[in-house]
Amino acid sequence: MMNPQIYISADETTFHLTNGEFSYILHCLPDGHLMHLWSGKAVRPEADYTCFHEVFPRPMTSCPDADSWYSREHTAQECGTFGSSDFRTPAIEITHPDGSTLSDFQLTSWNILDGKPALPGLPAVYCEDSSEAKTLECILTDQKNSLEMVLSYTIFRDHNVIARNTRLINHGDAPVYADTVQSLCLDLPDSDYVWMQFSGAWGRERHLRNRTLEQGIQSVGSRRGHSSHNHNPVVILRREHTDEVQGEALGIALVYSGNFLIQAEVDTYDKTRILAGIHPDGFRWKLEPGEQFQSPEAVMAWTDQGLNRLSQTFHGLFGRRLARGCWRDRPRPILNNNWEATMFDFDEESLVKIAGKAKECGVELFVLDDGWFGARRNDKAGLGDWVANPELLPNGIAGLSKRIRGLGMEMGLWFEPEMVNKDSNLYRAHPDWILEVPGRTGCHGRNQFVLDFSRKEVVDAVYDMMCHVLDDADLSYIKWDMNRSITDCWSHALPADRQKETAHRYILGVYDLYERLIQRYPQILFESCASGGGRFDPGMLYYAPQAWCSDDSDAVERLSIQYGTSYAYPLSSIGAHVSEVPNQQVYRNVPLHTRANVACFGTHGYELDLNSLAPEELEQVREQIRFMKDNRRLLQFGTFYRLSSPFEGNVTAWMVVSEDQTEAIVGWYRTLSHVNQPTSRIRLQGLHPDRQYTVMTEGRHPYRTHAPWGDELMHMGLITSDGLSGQVETRDKYYGDFDSRLYLLRAVTPAA
Ligand code: GLA
Repeated sequence: MMNPQIYISADETTFHLTNGEFSYILHCLPDGHLMHLWSGKAVRPEADYTCFHEVFPRPMTSCPDADSWYSREHTAQECGTFGSSDFRTPAIEITHPDGSTLSDFQLTSWNILDGKPALPGLPAVYCEDSSEAKTLECILTDQKNSLEMVLSYTIFRDHNVIARNTRLINHGDAPVYADTVQSLCLDLPDSDYVWMQFSGAWGRERHLRNRTLEQGIQSVGSRRGHSSHNHNPVVILRREHTDEVQGEALGIALVYSGNFLIQAEVDTYDKTRILAGIHPDGFRWKLEPGEQFQSPEAVMAWTDQGLNRLSQTFHGLFGRRLARGCWRDRPRPILNNNWEATMFDFDEESLVKIAGKAKECGVELFVLDDGWFGARRNDKAGLGDWVANPELLPNGIAGLSKRIRGLGMEMGLWFEPEMVNKDSNLYRAHPDWILEVPGRTGCHGRNQFVLDFSRKEVVDAVYDMMCHVLDDADLSYIKWDMNRSITDCWSHALPADRQKETAHRYILGVYDLYERLIQRYPQILFESCASGGGRFDPGMLYYAPQAWCSDDSDAVERLSIQYGTSYAYPLSSIGAHVSEVPNQQVYRNVPLHTRANVACFGTHGYELDLNSLAPEELEQVREQIRFMKDNRRLLQFGTFYRLSSPFEGNVTAWMVVSEDQTEAIVGWYRTLSHVNQPTSRIRLQGLHPDRQYTVMTEGRHPYRTHAPWGDELMHMGLITSDGLSGQVETRDKYYGDFDSRLYLLRAVTPAA
């Protein structure tokens, strides 16, 4: 790719952002409105693209210009507004002092910046060096109402994406209300797309769903106060024949963790408007004179080389230019979390026993989960009181962490900073610190209530409690949980006409607390969590480079969850653990090797008491950990390819390849065993076609006697068939259902 460029036509009406592979072009129309001309494969910079603006007479068309048939309804807009000839859902809607909602934003000036400015208080992708990106800021003005809107577009050298955000400033002398401020508005010239969304519920997050775009509106969103288990703020639009290895696709991701909407509106002329931003329902932001509103960032990614390439674009951007801090590029520690081992039933001695066995097996980090603080012996009390319970931990967290460190391990701790039980000292001292509507009975979720993080004093108080623990003990990891959706979203601190700001202000409070903690404790690795993957979104990655993927730790269920997650999120971000059998969520008995073979395509930890395993199982765990330590850089930071989908069949397969294409690991998983199956092979991806690779199974058995070439493995495929009864010929054990294998590929060193 070439350095990012922004070409501007001589008459300063056309702006062409390109990196040589991808172009994004916008054009200022005679009425000052910004029109979208193109987003897709790079085209040559031309002086004039006006022929792409199709204007011709149509019945029932409304036209703002007395002398032409130009209608905003039939023009691709960069920021559509409603009510003056565009009838589609608007990207921006403002109630002005006179009560009207008509806006007329015209381009008045523009700036080009090297690099990319940060978004204050919000997560956003960034550059490490200003040569990596160029940013175009278009400044538009609604003169009647003295409002300014800044549309910001960043193009990157190394990623085929546009990052986009919207800022609104009130220069008038009366307040206005922003009813919707979308981060992205993308009007596409056709609707020949399959819409891919990542949806589910608790325990089955980010399952892939496909549907063909149709005339009308289709959308995913959340009004739960968090991005949610139900719908992820990422949507992919692919052409009908696009698959993992070829074809055109574009991805839309919102870098935000609260209420959101991603919507496609196909009009009856088969043109598509994509909107992405804060969900307009329940949102209204008051802008006093001089105030501004900054939208979250949206990212649009593009490829013409298939879905794997689109995912790799997201992985590169989110893993290296959204995640931050010293953990961003470091292989992640192998941890043992006590939650599924003990739930609330533990004390210092039992924890040290679990940690001791974990250490023996090679685990590096012991994580103490829920239940260590206040009166928290079950989920009815104590939440919000971030002081160690002396009955369980007589020496506090500091004492426990000293013992864990004495074993030669790091220690991590669970917090749920945003929540409170009513049976807690915090709630008794500050009953008005929760979100609730006076005079109404608020809903609980898991017996807990939501602290009003839109208020600085609430965030300050939680910060102080957390710092007290963190300053005292030697911790290197925090699991930040959030275990209920937000209801009764009303703040005691806001006036009536600002109540619809509460949900967004809440998320800004969450981001503020995260930011303060990571600035103060830059060495700590944060893992976000929301009853599993209820807030697994790009926004969180800016603060916590990994996220607990799901409370469903069953390896077979995890295949779908992790496969769906991989469409947008890098493997280094996917929290995945080996847990006990029968599994606590689905009661399934998956062999230990398969549980590990799934977890290693993520951060790989253990969510059980290793003391409960038989000696031969412990030996297997030791080997798994040795393997992970040897290969985690490749597994977590290699180039990832999906090969065979659990959403389509009985076999799941995926692989990672090192950047220099000398190493690769293939994960192969068969859910049910069937007798006398057809032979099968899987075509690998991303290998060097001219190099020869040795192929071993994870037991270090040679897989085939000769070293195949990369082209052979990618085109003819890797044979994965077993013998007739399901056994792997190189293994001494036979498995039935839920079998899996890892294939390790190493390039043969070319002869000198
Ligand atoms: C949530 C998390 C779990 C665990 C429990 C503790 O469900 O997702 O991993 O931390 O809370 O209460």
